Order: sequence, then C-alpha cells, then structure tokens
Amino acid sequence: MRFEVDGTPVEAEPQPGQVLRTLLREQGVTSVKKGCDSGDCGACSVLVDGTPVHSCITPAHRLEGRSVTTAAGLGTPEQPHPVQRAFAEAAAFQCGFCTAGMVVTASTFTAEDLADHHRRLKGNLCRCTGYRAIEDALAGVVNTTCGPAGDAVGASVRAPAAMRIVTGREEYTLDVPPSPDVRATEALLHLAVLGSPHAHARIVRIDSRAAEALPGVHAVLTWRDDPGVLFSTGRHESRLDDPDDTLVLDRVLRFRGQRVAAVVAESVRVAEQACALLEVEYEVLPSVHDPDAARRPGAPLLHGEKTTAEHRIAEPGRNVVAALHGETGDVDAALATAAATVEGVWSTGRVSHAALETHATRGRIDADGRLVLRTATQVPFLVRDEVARVFGLDPERVRVVAKRVGGGFGGKQELLTEDLVTLAVLRTGRTVQYEFSRRDEFTIAPARHPMRVRVRLGATAEGVLTALHVDQTMDTGAYGNHGIGVMYHSVSESVAVYRCPNKRVDAESVYTNNLPSGAFRGYGLGQVVFAVESAMDELARELGIDPFALRRRNVIVPGDALVVTDPDEETDLQFDGSSGLDQCIDLVEDALATGPDTAEHDRALPCMDGPVLDDSADWVSGSGMAVAAIATVPPRGHHAHATVELTGEGRYRVGVGTAEFGNGTTTVHTQLVATALGTTPDRITVHQSDTDAARYDTGAFGSAGVVVAGKALHAAATALRELIVERATTVVADRTPRTATGVLGPAVHVGPDGVRVGDVHVPTAELLAAGPLVAHGQHDGTPRSLAFTVHGVRVAVHRPTGEVRVLQSVQAVDAGTVMNPEQLRGQVEGGAAQAIGSSLYEEVVLDDTGRVTTDSFRNYRVPKISDVPRTEVLFAETHDPLGPLGAKSMSEAPYNPVAPAVANAVRDAIGVRPYRLPMTRDRVWALVETGRS
Ligand code: FES
Repeated sequence: MRFEVDGTPVEAEPQPGQVLRTLLREQGVTSVKKGCDSGDCGACSVLVDGTPVHSCITPAHRLEGRSVTTAAGLGTPEQPHPVQRAFAEAAAFQCGFCTAGMVVTASTFTAEDLADHHRRLKGNLCRCTGYRAIEDALAGVVNTTCGPAGDAVGASVRAPAAMRIVTGREEYTLDVPPSPDVRATEALLHLAVLGSPHAHARIVRIDSRAAEALPGVHAVLTWRDDPGVLFSTGRHESRLDDPDDTLVLDRVLRFRGQRVAAVVAESVRVAEQACALLEVEYEVLPSVHDPDAARRPGAPLLHGEKTTAEHRIAEPGRNVVAALHGETGDVDAALATAAATVEGVWSTGRVSHAALETHATRGRIDADGRLVLRTATQVPFLVRDEVARVFGLDPERVRVVAKRVGGGFGGKQELLTEDLVTLAVLRTGRTVQYEFSRRDEFTIAPARHPMRVRVRLGATAEGVLTALHVDQTMDTGAYGNHGIGVMYHSVSESVAVYRCPNKRVDAESVYTNNLPSGAFRGYGLGQVVFAVESAMDELARELGIDPFALRRRNVIVPGDALVVTDPDEETDLQFDGSSGLDQCIDLVEDALATGPDTAEHDRALPCMDGPVLDDSADWVSGSGMAVAAIATVPPRGHHAHATVELTGEGRYRVGVGTAEFGNGTTTVHTQLVATALGTTPDRITVHQSDTDAARYDTGAFGSAGVVVAGKALHAAATALRELIVERATTVVADRTPRTATGVLGPAVHVGPDGVRVGDVHVPTAELLAAGPLVAHGQHDGTPRSLAFTVHGVRVAVHRPTGEVRVLQSVQAVDAGTVMNPEQLRGQVEGGAAQAIGSSLYEEVVLDDTGRVTTDSFRNYRVPKISDVPRTEVLFAETHDPLGPLGAKSMSEAPYNPVAPAVANAVRDAIGVRPYRLPMTRDRVWALVETGRS
C-alpha cells in the first residue's frame, strides 16, 4: 500500500485489522501519540486528505493513495503553522502530550469552527491545562515572552521546549528509535502480561508450553523467574518509607489484574496471543474489599505472613499497613464544653490520574554492558536504585532516562513497568518494551486512595476553634505503596492549617483485595481537606458566622507550632515561612462578592449537555469556599544536586536530576540560572532526568523541582558566576596587569563571543583556556514552608436531575515569589479543572468483587473543553524566606480546596450537605429528593 505522510511517500503493508496510529508509529512517525486507542482522547489526531481523524480508530488499509498530515508536517520549529505558533505563544500546554493532536485538529478551524470550538475540540482531551490557555491560543492571545536579559524571574518566560512540542518533535518516552547502539541491533521485543482473573488466589500450576511454542515468542516469565526480593512500587527518598510487600512476579495474587505471567515476543500481538495460550490453575482464596471488613477478626489476610520489622507492615494480622493515633490537649473535654459542635463522616472515591501518556519502559543493555531504562517516571534516581537492589546490580551499572513525561500527577512515582522490563532484558539480552494500555491505567495502575473521614469540631460562640478531631480510614488496596506516606500526609497540613489547643488525629491505612492505591496530586490532603472544610462550613452555619470570617479567626500564622504526625520528624517544628493565607481569603471573598453573577453571564457560559439554565425554580444557586495548606517540600527528606557549566559556545549547560512532566520545572530552572548569571533564558540548555546527567535528585514530587532542585541550581549558578568573575579577573590581569581590577564590575553576561565583566570583554575561549568552568549546588529541602490556596465557587443545581454547573470559579494562591505568572496560572487552572472533575463525576468504580468497571474514557469521564469553567487566578504577595528567591511550590496545592468549596456551594444551594465524592447527578438528585444527606 502506498500513501504519503507529511509529504513523504510511504510504502507499507498493514496487518489485518491494523489501525493507522500503529502503522504510523511503526514507520517511525512519533508525532502521533497514543493516549487511549479507542478514539476518545485525540492525542493521535492526524489529517487524512485535510480532514482531522483519530488515527487509533482509522483502519490503516483505507490509506491507499491518501495523504496524512501530522503535527510534524504542519510546521517546523523554525517555520511553525500559525496555530502552532499561537499554542507556543499562549503557553497552551503543560506536559504537551495532547498538543500534537490538538494543533492538528485546530489547524482546520474556520472562523465558524473557532466560534464553536467547545464542540469542535470535544474529541481532544487535555489533562493538564484546564483548557483556558488553549482557548487563548485559538483566540491569538500571547501570554509568554522569550525573557528579558538578566531578570528572567517573574516574567512569563516561554517553555524551552515550546516549539518542539507544538510541532510534534519533542521526544516522550517511546519516541526514540530503539537501536542506538550495536548491542541492540536486533528487532525490538515487546512484553505483554496475563492479569489475574481473581481478586485473591494462589497459582497452583502454569503450563507455558503452548505459549512458548508460538512463533515469535522469546520468553515466558512466571513466578519461578522472580528474583525473590521484596520491594514497593511506591518510591521515596528513603526506601524504608514503604512496606516491602511486592514481588516482580508473585505466586499469590491479591487483586484482579495482578501479573500472573509475562510473555516477551516480537510484537505486542504475538505476546498477547501467547498470554492467551497460558494454562493456569488457581487456588481461589477468600477476598475482602472493604477496609472495615478487612480489619475484623477472621478476615482474609493479604500479607499475614510478612510479620518482621523488615516488612514494615504495622499489623499484618489486621491488614493494617500503618496506623496513627495522637492527641494534643483533650478533645473530648473541649467538645463537652464547646458552644457549638459539628460531627460528620465524609467519603471519597477512587480517582485516576489519567495522564495522557501511559506508563511505559524500554530497556536494553548498552555497548558497555550497562542496563539502560528509558521510562516514564517522575523519579529516575529512585527507580535506578530500587531496580539495582531488586536485581542485585551495582547502581552504577544502571542508567535511567526519563526525558519529557506526558503527565504524572503522582502516578509516575510508581515503579510499575521498569522491574518487569529489567527481568525481560536480563533474560533475553534484547531490547524490550512494555507499554500500558489505557485499560491498564484504569485497572492495574494505582488510583487515588479512597477515604472515609470522620471529623468532630468544637468552637466558642465567637467562632474560636477549641476542638478538632480527624479520624481517617483509607483503602490502600492490595499493596502498601504510598499507603504509609499518604496516611501521614493526609492528616498533617489539613489539621495544621488551623490553630486549636485540642487536636486529635486517628488514621489507619488498610489492605484490601482492591486495585492498589497510590500517590496522587495533593498526596492524601484533598480527601481530608474535603471533610475538614465541609465541617468548617457547617460550623459557620451553626454559629451564624460568615465562612470567610470563621477561617480568618482560626488559621495558622507564622510562628505557630506545626502539627507533626510523622513519627520520624522533629516534633517541635514551627511554621517559619511566610503566610499569604489572609490575603488569599480576602481576594476570594472580594472576587465572589464582585464577580459576574448576572443571569446573562451564567447563560452564556459553555454548558454541558442538559437542561437550559433558566429562571425557573428548577435551578437553585449557592456559593462556597474552602482553604488548604501544603508543605512546600515532601516530608522525610528531599535532596537535589545541580551543576552549571559554561560551554565553548558561550552557553550554559545545566545538569539536574528532576523530571519535567508538565510542572514547568525546566522553564523555572532556565529563569533561575539566567537571573543568577545575568543572561537570557535562551542561552541555557537543561539536561535533566537522566541518572548519567546529574549527581542525584530525589525526583519530581509536587513542585520540589522548583523549591529544592531550583535552590540547588540557583546556588550552582551563583557559584559559577563567581568562578567566571574570578577567572576573568585572572585573564584580564595577565593581559593588562596595571588596570584590570579597576575596570571589572560585578555584571556578567555571556554571549556567543565571550563575557563582559564591567566594561572588560573576555572571549569565552580565553576563559576556558585554563580549564572547564563548572559549579555545583545542592539542597536538602529543609526547613519546609507552607503554601496556601483558597478556592471559591458559585454553582447552580438543577433540582429535577441533580446536575451541578459551576458558574464562577476563583482561586487565590500564596506561592511566594511568582517565578512565572503564566505558568503558575496554568498550574492553578489545571489543578482546579482536575479537581472539579473529581468533585462532580470522575470515579474509578469497582464492583463488590474488586473488578474495575470504569476502564476507558467512555465510562471514566475526564473534563472536556466544554465542561470546565474558567478559574480566575489571583496571587497573594509574599516572599518566602525559605524558598529560592522567595518562591514556594504550587503544582499540587490548587487541587485540594476545590471539592469542599463545590460541596459547600451545593449545600448552600439545595440546603442538604453532600458527604460523598464525587457529587454525581444521581447522588445530588437523591439529596434533593430526600432532603437528607
Ligand atoms: Fe494537555 Fe498535558 S498538556 S495533556
């Protein structure tokens, strides 16, 4: 079959039933992405004879004689298509994985299409941006700059990768050719997994003879091939933070979909066919799917045999991974004498990260015999160290490379594919690739921990908190990855944000035979903040106090003691950073009071399909707010090293270990270095997320890349500036000994031809003649500060159906010094959009046997462009003494206050409080119908 791709003739024979996406990828066309393979997300969008299609559902054989255009064919970084330029200038991406498909679709828009873009872009999902910046791009709004010289911090500097992303040239995990060296010249092998059909079972026997006999099969891996070293898929700076409860291939299966066996073959199709030929005999074991049932005597035990201290499981005989019970003051006594009390139990469902790039790893042995893993991870160094430990390798003999990751949200702090690929590479000696499907993302990748949270509050008649009790139970699923850390974190800042003399915290993290839970944006805070902030709203009602005033009266201020829940941390910590929380409360209150609340405005909002927003009594409206705090650095340590080097071309080469997955770290890093060195961001080249390119970095946890790696990098750049001045002084002194020092000034600017120190010019070659100029910096992430977010919403609820529409959404944030206003705004908008999704409709649903029933974007609804209200973003003005140039981290924080703000607004509208997330139409309808929570 002959056809054309981006103007180049192609001759290829599609397999029976093959789709265009996979055929294009086989031809090396990497500007076409895989997001879902079911026509739902649009990451694979291409033009066929000028018409946009989802290539993942377009039969390949229809391409005979036709012309395909991808993002790479629309334009180049030097000569982009106008739509591509607009996306770059508007900062209309974060991870950028959706962008190639998005610009392809948008490139066909007429003026009428632009006016109707909510419908025309419905088939292109973006998980990161919240869509406002994409709408700006369509409208031709320019939000970014290339950056002023010497003072890049504070400017909306464009992401260094912008032009590569919008033209489909940025390389994600599997976008490089598989054979970069001599040892991997044989064809790439693929790995497929047979998942458990049972929630709890023991493998009695596996007959793999038929699978092994299938042509193209290279290896069948079973529990017999397991290296026998327990580990956790959750990764942290200290590996002791998670229980050792997982094997690469276990003989006991603890949730549906867990690996039974893996097949390595010459194609995914053959590997999957071979999986179907495996004959497995199981001993089915009783299973338990509710955390309360799992803790009762006689419940099936998931890890009952893992009883030693090395396993780090608190009570294996009760299925309890971790437990926390602590109190300051006397909560019961304070409640007994309080003027007003509130008590309730709130619950939250599972949420999928739904990052558009699925988990994937490609592994090989390089020419030096080292294991090289190219993988979609937020934590390359932690993956390197754990893979080396599990397989008994020297960490120096393992290299992990991440490059740009297509979205993470915490989901890529898990070691989900790297271990199995390593096993396959070591067994076969070949290059092996394992790529999750979208179904895998929903059914076997960890989701956000579901929680049940009981809150008790007590206060004086004036609204001063006297008692605060949080009792949390979380379902960690079949394995304890992040089950300990999320538990501690969930009840820390959510309780610490309020001053109160009597506080009590109870929390337990419980094993069940459900899908494992894991790290998710906010790291447990979102669930508990939902409960605490709902309770605070109820307390305000009880006392007849305005909810903003109640928060003002009780929030933490600098100098206050911090609640410390983690036993490994110091217990006498106090809040030493800056606080703009009071400013945030004022900003949101003003915005809600003065915001557009006319019927005309509300009716003009892009609305979901459904009843027309009208003046009838069917619609009721209400408003709500909530506050949240989050530590600026993850607990229990975070370390970053960074290097900055002057190159012969007069540029600066930065080596940093953290990963870029849409959090904007790379942009901020270029700004920090440019500012320290008095140059422009375009002269900085960042090499990151490669364990060979930097000394060490814990990885991308929240915005630690800004506040920890950023601080290390700023220190390195400042040190390099001093080195350059020193070297220039020597060079100039040698050149004109009598006058040199008198004319040298502090300013340094490196251009292609050299350095200017004061008014003396020193060529780069002269500077480097005496040896390389390179400086190092490091930071350990301590002490930590607090970042704050306050969210306000106005909603309309349709009483006959339970539909909730967000009419106004505003968030004020205290991010310290705002490094890049447009980027920060995008992070807040994206976090708010993701949180609105999980407030109202996103939920990974399991039946009572542990089977995931929401396994595609068809039945797990991610917000589309037409679903998301614009969130107005406001910045408090603070300067944090602990962060780099006064900055705090922010990428997780915007998520946390949104759900309670929406719940409080729904309560305001219908008079009945929602206690469960998501607040789906049927649940809200039931609240309206029954008048009871
Ligand atoms: Fe759209 Fe990440 S930027 S999915």
